[in-house]
Amino acid sequence: MIRKAVIPVAGLGTRMLPVTKVVPKELLNIVDRPTIEYVVDEIIASGITTLIFIISQGKGGIIDYFDTNLNLRSFLKERGKFDLLKKVEEVEDKIEHLIEVRQKVPEGLGHAVLMAERAVENEPFAVVLGDDLVDGDSPCLKQMIDIYNHLSTKNHSIIAVEEVSREDISRYGIVEGEKIENNLIKIKRVVEKPSPEEAPSNLAIIGRYIFDPVIFKFLKKIPKVHGEYQLTDAIQLMIENGYEVYAYLFKGIRFDTGNKEGFFKTFLHYATKNPKLKEILIRFVKENKIC
Ligand code: UTP
Repeated sequence: MIRKAVIPVAGLGTRMLPVTKVVPKELLNIVDRPTIEYVVDEIIASGITTLIFIISQGKGGIIDYFDTNLNLRSFLKERGKFDLLKKVEEVEDKIEHLIEVRQKVPEGLGHAVLMAERAVENEPFAVVLGDDLVDGDSPCLKQMIDIYNHLSTKNHSIIAVEEVSREDISRYGIVEGEKIENNLIKIKRVVEKPSPEEAPSNLAIIGRYIFDPVIFKFLKKIPKVHGEYQLTDAIQLMIENGYEVYAYLFKGIRFDTGNKEGFFKTFLHYATKNPKLKEILIRFVKENKIC
């Protein structure tokens, strides 16, 4: 049973500078709520109740967002703003068990996940990146948990992947493996940011994982490369040591909100799911002869 999710949000967000000097990218608003709330909603809808946030200096606002603000609650109550009060309470009551862990130096995603070792307590767990959103009929993490539970192997791990275009290959960890079921591949090798010529496939690792806790042992063994410990290096070691790691082609659309173009597309996607906002956008485009 997967009971815990680790959410690394300690990165510097340099691709979103200058705003990320002062506002974590995970708190940037997408239509009606911050990016991180979409991620938290997916985790909760997948049946997970313990959320372990890996934060760093300047990222405390993410925790505050889900924390109880008594002053605000009484202010809204006194002014009779009960609709807003309800909204605020909904956010603050969302997470049943929130754990906050500090990554003092941003030494990469592998290092961030390692920071969660004590809080995870030696059980299988999920890792969900705070700037990667997936929209679909069923939560991406829930799909992965179902696959995880259905596999008969032991101590296995699952990584969500999607097909990417040739020009995007070098931005991702890419997997090589053998198809064992529809949408499921047994991974033989993972390569971090290969050139399109060297890449063994176009299946890119996205920000959703389910790990056996043995990953921590391998995270302690990997070398630092260009100042960072890469999660993919630990996954590769896990495979080399006989642990089964599967790539799952999830159903849904995935958005990388951590760069400006991706953030813009994410905003448009969620805005146009609302018929009223979609109509406003279409009228605006027509009136201003944008296309
Ligand atoms: P990214 O590389 O996408 O995020 O890391 P970043 O480092 O914040 O952004 P850029 O590249 O400077 O623009 C993927 C995820 O891993 C987390 C990030 O917060 C993000 O959710 N991360 C990354 C950490 O928690 N710690 C790190 O040291 C590095």
